[in-house]
Amino acid sequence: MPEAAAEPDVVLSPMRATHLDAVLRIEEAVYPTPWSRSLFESELSKLSTRAYYVAHEGQRLCGYGGLLMAGDEAHVATVAVDPAFQRRGMATRLMLHLSVAALERGASTATLEVRADNTAAQRLYARFGYMPVGVRRGYYVVDGERIDAVIMTAADIRGAAYRERLQALADGLTGTTRVEPDIGPP
Ligand SMILES: CC(C)(COP(=O)(O)OP(=O)(O)OC[C@H]1O[C@@H](n2cnc3c(N)ncnc32)[C@H](O)[C@@H]1OP(=O)(O)O)[C@@H](O)C(=O)NCCC(=O)NCCS
Repeated sequence: MPEAAAEPDVVLSPMRATHLDAVLRIEEAVYPTPWSRSLFESELSKLSTRAYYVAHEGQRLCGYGGLLMAGDEAHVATVAVDPAFQRRGMATRLMLHLSVAALERGASTATLEVRADNTAAQRLYARFGYMPVGVRRGYYVVDGERIDAVIMTAADIRGAAYRERLQALADGLTGTTRVEPDIGPP
């Protein structure tokens, strides 16, 4: 008898309204100014320019990320991982898939803003070839305090060198990932 295929360690799937309770629990745990449910719903309704994914380990939704497209530029809007699941390559899996989604949608560059004091995220993005290209002064307001955003850009993501970078990051992961196809509107 053939062996049953082993379950993947992580499953990435398109974010849907049914995921939002779990998404918001993480959002509220990791961000001082979390996005609201209606903001996520609005993002999910813009099918033609958005790509949002959630990551599950077993039944547990443990992270999510999303991007929007503007012309040939992909803008990474958010990546977040449940604190109990951090430092296990979850954001790397999400960023790898967001990179594929950006390429599939015709992106040639990718950009994002990140808090100037968020070194964890900046290190993650640097691994994906994002370089600091500017600063938006006082872009975030946290507890009344204005915090700068660093603008980071990955140029020429259609090139062979970028493809090799993504492959090396994928090769560095332990465990398996399955990506579920997008089967239409949420
Ligand atoms: C930033 C964040 C998404 C990283 O998620 P993660 O699943 O832990 O990331 P990974 O395990 O894939 O880490 C990949 C690499 O990023 C860097 N990194 C991630 N977390 C880090 C930390 N706390 N300190 C330093 N570097 C860190 C490291 O280079 C890491 O590789 P390593 O573990 O081999 O050293 C997560 O910390 C998070 O959700 N933070 C709160 C939300 C947030 O700030 N999102 C980004 C907004 S722009």
